[in-house]
Order: sequence, then structure tokens, then C-alpha cells
Amino acid sequence: MLESAQTIEGYKVAAARTAIELVKPDMRLGLGTGSTAAPFVEEVGARVRDGLNVICVPTSEATRAHAEALNIPLTTLDETPHLDLTVDGADEIDDQLRLIKGGGGALLREKIVATASERMVVIADDRKLSRTLGSHPLPIEVVRFGLKATMQLIHALSAEAGCEGEIRLRLGNDGRPFVTDQGNLIVDCAFPKIAEPEVLAFALARVPGVVEHGLFLGLCDMAIVAGANGVQVLKHPSA
Ligand code: A5P
Repeated sequence: MLESAQTIEGYKVAAARTAIELVKPDMRLGLGTGSTAAPFVEEVGARVRDGLNVICVPTSEATRAHAEALNIPLTTLDETPHLDLTVDGADEIDDQLRLIKGGGGALLREKIVATASERMVVIADDRKLSRTLGSHPLPIEVVRFGLKATMQLIHALSAEAGCEGEIRLRLGNDGRPFVTDQGNLIVDCAFPKIAEPEVLAFALARVPGVVEHGLFLGLCDMAIVAGANGVQVLKHPSA
């Protein structure tokens, strides 16, 4: 069944409203990036307006601007290096809560913030669930220097890790290379099936021009997924 954009927005809000129940007074929060994280930021803003005391680290400049507009108290990982909870969206989620992230280009800060958090909770609509990662292209943040050589090495080492597909430099709406908040570039890898994400992650870590990739492995503790049948909470097998 094809669902309307309005219905999908409703799912995102439902997931965000479930996630806000995890937020307790005095928590240090990571605020995710994207169209699913945005309603969660709204929920945090509403609670802050009602007197909730929290302090937050945004995962992108876009989320910073959104949080500032809602008067959410912000800090940095330099001031607050350990967070209690991060709530973020994802592009794809498998049944072991392994993720593809970075569709919005914020994967580097998102991974740093999630890693600094006691718990990472992903919110999503159920289109994001997937048996095998790969239905969404894998974003990889790379430095500008040596771009072509980096792309060729990503291609070669990914193939050794069992993943082949088109690797494309991401362009912005203006047709120029998309630039991340860290001043880097993104390449999107259309690997139709990432059968062994850990093997691919290990291969990508060998490419010097790769700053970080969008595979989030062993980071997500819980996924709150909304769809036509309501909201389901998926927990990591080790949780
Ligand atoms: C941002 O870089 C991403 O990791 C997002 O969290 C992810 O792309 C999900 O975005 P949406 O909630 O907009 O689908």
C-alpha cells in the first residue's frame, strides 16, 4: 500500500512522541538530524517550555538552528563529553539494529554524538526496516584531497568485502558537490546488499581518505518504529 506523505509524517510524530517518554529531568541529550529527528526536537522544545531541565548537543548545524529557535539549552561535547541519551533517525535499520545513516549528510557528527551517549535510540517509520542493509545507498564522508583515488580504493576494498555498486559524489541542489558541516564531501555507494556490514566497515576503515562511513554498528540500543499497525519498540539483542 502506498502511503501519503501526510501519513508518513504522522508516523514520524508518533515515533517522536514515544521517544520523548524516555527523556527524564537533568538528562544530557544528543539531538539527531533529519525529518524524523525534527519532530523529536519539537517535543523536547515543548517540554523545555513547560519547565523540563535538559541540556542538548545537536548533531548538525541544521538541528542547532532548530533547537535554538525553540530555546532548547545547548552544550558541546567539549563541555559535556558524556551524554545520557541520543535520539536520531536512520535511513535503514536491520533486525540487529545495525543502521545506515547519513542520508542528510550529518553522519560524522551523528556517529560522534551517538558514541558519546550511554544509549542511542532510533526513531523511524516502518519503511526504514530492512532484512539486509543496502536498499538505501551507503553514505561515506571523505576528504576533498585525492577524491578520485579515494573513490577507487573504496570501490576496490568494498568489492573485496562483497559489495559492488555505483559510487557517486553527492551533489547539492545547486549541482555543486555537497559539503558537510565538517567541510568534507560525501560519496553515496549503491551496494544493493550489504550481507556483512562489519566486514565492509573494516574494509572502509582501511581507506585513508575516508573520514567516516554511515554504517552504525553496535551503537543503536533501541528502535522506535511507527507504521499502520502502531508503534513498535525493537531492542538490541544484547539489551
Ligand atoms: C542525517 O545525516 C541522517 O543520518 C538522518 O538521520 C537519516 O538520513 C534519516 O533522515 P530522515 O529522518 O529525514 O529520513
